[in-house]
Amino acid sequence: MKVLVVPTAERAATRAAGLVADCLNVGDRPVLGLATGSTMEPVYADLVARFRTGAISFSGATTFNLDEYVGLSPDHPQSYRRTMHRLLFDHVDIDVGACHLPQGDAPDPHVEAQRYDAAIAAAGGIDIQLLGIGRNGHIGFNEPTSSLGARTRIKTLTRSTRQANAAFFAKPEDVPRHAITMGIANILEARHCVLVATGAAKAGAVARMIEGPLGADCPATALQLHARATVIVDGHAAAGLELIDYYQEIHPDGEEPVLV
Ligand code: GLP
Repeated sequence: MKVLVVPTAERAATRAAGLVADCLNVGDRPVLGLATGSTMEPVYADLVARFRTGAISFSGATTFNLDEYVGLSPDHPQSYRRTMHRLLFDHVDIDVGACHLPQGDAPDPHVEAQRYDAAIAAAGGIDIQLLGIGRNGHIGFNEPTSSLGARTRIKTLTRSTRQANAAFFAKPEDVPRHAITMGIANILEARHCVLVATGAAKAGAVARMIEGPLGADCPATALQLHARATVIVDGHAAAGLELIDYYQEIHPDGEEPVLV
């Protein structure tokens, strides 16, 4: 796992956006795995800014989001589909027909989950997968005790996750109880995983993910099995890391090392 400890949350977003930009510029028909959550908002703002300068284009890109709430239609104001339009899709030259999210109001969510898996496979898999992390160590909506071998399916959200996401809804009871989420197996198949965590509230989950034992009680620990996982954290989110001096020695302020 490559651990980049950067000085500020702004730098974390810029660093993550830079990795997505590299993927867009290098790849022929890049496939981006996208995430929602407040941590991702500055990442998308940075990508939109890069697009406006002409540094990047999304014209050949395909995207797959990690998850969507069960029961919300694509045009529901709190759906992740609408969120992605507001933050990214509406501001760049992306083909909206190539932007995929699970359909939250599909007649049979289980069939929808299987369809989504098949669509990812048909696109040739994901080149770079953006990830945030929940305070309980969830990635996507793979809550603690999720099977580490599972693919896209329905998950019941924990009370803490529903509380954390209540800020986005008018009333706490409006937060859906279930989500369709890519599984850990899908995430591990992405060719590069980039997880961003900022703020003190994530310090415990970040320490557990990077330095704790592999276990379904913290699904993000599965990234320890990935051959190319990059974790970008600010100083607050890095506060619980025992080996922080080592990470800083390899990547001072999160920069790439100069091997001499
Ligand atoms: C939600 C999303 C996750 C995200 C997490 C953290 O549960 N499904 O993908 O990582 O929230 O969100 P935030 O960045 O707002 O802390």
